[in-house]
Amino acid sequence: MKTTFHKNLSTRREFVKQSGLLAGGLVAAPLFSNANFLNSVDDTIKIALVGCGGRGTGAAAQALSTKQNVKLVAMCDAFRDNLDRCYLSLTADDLSDVTGRPGNLKNRIDVPEGNKFTGFDGYKKAIALADVVILTTPPGFRPIHFEEAINQGKHVFMEKPVATDPVGIQKVLTSAAQAKQKKLNVVVGLQRHYQNSYRELYKRKDLIGDITSAQAWWNNDGVWVRARKAGQTEMEYQMRNWYYFVWLCGDHITEQHIHNLDVINWFKGGYPVKAQGMGGREVRKGKDHGEIFDHHYVEFQYADGSILNSQCRHIPGTMSRVDELLVGTKGRIQCGAAKIIDAKGNTQYQFEGKDNDPYQTEHDELFEAIAKGEYKFADAENGAKSTMTSILGRMATYSGQIIEWDKAINANLNIQPKEYNWNAATPTVPNADGYYPIAVPGVTKFV
Ligand SMILES: NC(=O)c1ccc[n+]([C@@H]2O[C@H](COP(=O)([O-])OP(=O)(O)OC[C@H]3O[C@@H](n4cnc5c(N)ncnc54)[C@H](O)[C@@H]3O)[C@@H](O)[C@H]2O)c1
Repeated sequence: MKTTFHKNLSTRREFVKQSGLLAGGLVAAPLFSNANFLNSVDDTIKIALVGCGGRGTGAAAQALSTKQNVKLVAMCDAFRDNLDRCYLSLTADDLSDVTGRPGNLKNRIDVPEGNKFTGFDGYKKAIALADVVILTTPPGFRPIHFEEAINQGKHVFMEKPVATDPVGIQKVLTSAAQAKQKKLNVVVGLQRHYQNSYRELYKRKDLIGDITSAQAWWNNDGVWVRARKAGQTEMEYQMRNWYYFVWLCGDHITEQHIHNLDVINWFKGGYPVKAQGMGGREVRKGKDHGEIFDHHYVEFQYADGSILNSQCRHIPGTMSRVDELLVGTKGRIQCGAAKIIDAKGNTQYQFEGKDNDPYQTEHDELFEAIAKGEYKFADAENGAKSTMTSILGRMATYSGQIIEWDKAINANLNIQPKEYNWNAATPTVPNADGYYPIAVPGVTKFV
């Protein structure tokens, strides 16, 4: 690994370091114009991975597959076994099934034992060793991890959602503003923004006139369950089986349906002002299904009175659809079909090209910008507001009330544990039979 550092501020490496240290206005123009850094001896972009599960492994492989001189130098996971599994996957002889290319990534990985961190505090040490941080834990931790990365002056790729409660959203918004000041690139894994077909539809959205209504779907069978094991503390159990606990996951309306809600916000150019809806648990009701619903149906209203009807369901054997539809005064955008039609159903535009892999494009574009010393990506604010859209929906379905955006986002509602350790109290606990309290519309307040 290259460790020599040039004093010359015009090298890319200095940009990577300094852009985190200097406030926006202080970064002089020449710093951004030098593209010869890749010939320098100190051009390695160091990466730290925080959250070494499925997506973390994939995101790290994508970051390491970019054209830049990148190196994974630090890893952190709450659990050592997950970190080891991720390290083994990334250092496999053949990674073609992950990267889509022959070969492996071994020469881009240099994570000595001392740079492998575990537990709840490991992220701070991992972040300190990197130029760019990949944040892929469950979303409950994103606000504190993102805050730390920005405080330490690092560029960030972070997965969606970016929080699970309004206090977390506010923290991300504050850090997003600081990232802008420091000119730190931030990409959020709402990958439809990096997908060619969506980008082409977005460019042509005016073909449908004013958007008067929209629909969004995330209906499918659901996800994994990680059953309780003997000897686990309640905290460990919830951390392992995190999808089913609202403080960690946000419920599936936040965890997955955010993708579709975000697309509608993007095309609308704004966020809903209020929401009301319904939801509950029909079939996913076991002890290991924690406290989340298995279906939500929400009517979001935007400032111009237009409505987004949103549905998400995790019930095997029912209709599957993950998609978005925008209806305008002159036609419709059918996102899944990558098509725009006029009011009579005639095709106005059809995306014909081969779609890209947006997961890879996120990293290609982020690392290219960093390597060139460019400040191009400020996704965190939208990431926070689209996450808040999904939280608004959850508040509506859990309570059965009309929930207003302004009240919700300013509610000072924090659903995280008071402290993080393996014996700490969790925000929810099971009853004597092993079942958790579930929200009851009409009874549950606000959350
Ligand atoms: N954009 C997408 O399409 C997409 C796809 C899959 C997952 N994701 C997102 O990626 C995130 C992770 O999902 P996943 O499927 O990889 O889950 P996962 O359970 O496979 O991995 C999460 C990892 O984070 C670790 N972790 C938990 N708390 C931690 C902490 N405080 N510090 C360090 N490590 C911690 C866990 O031990 C686990 O290894 C989620 O936010 C999810 O929504 C996004």
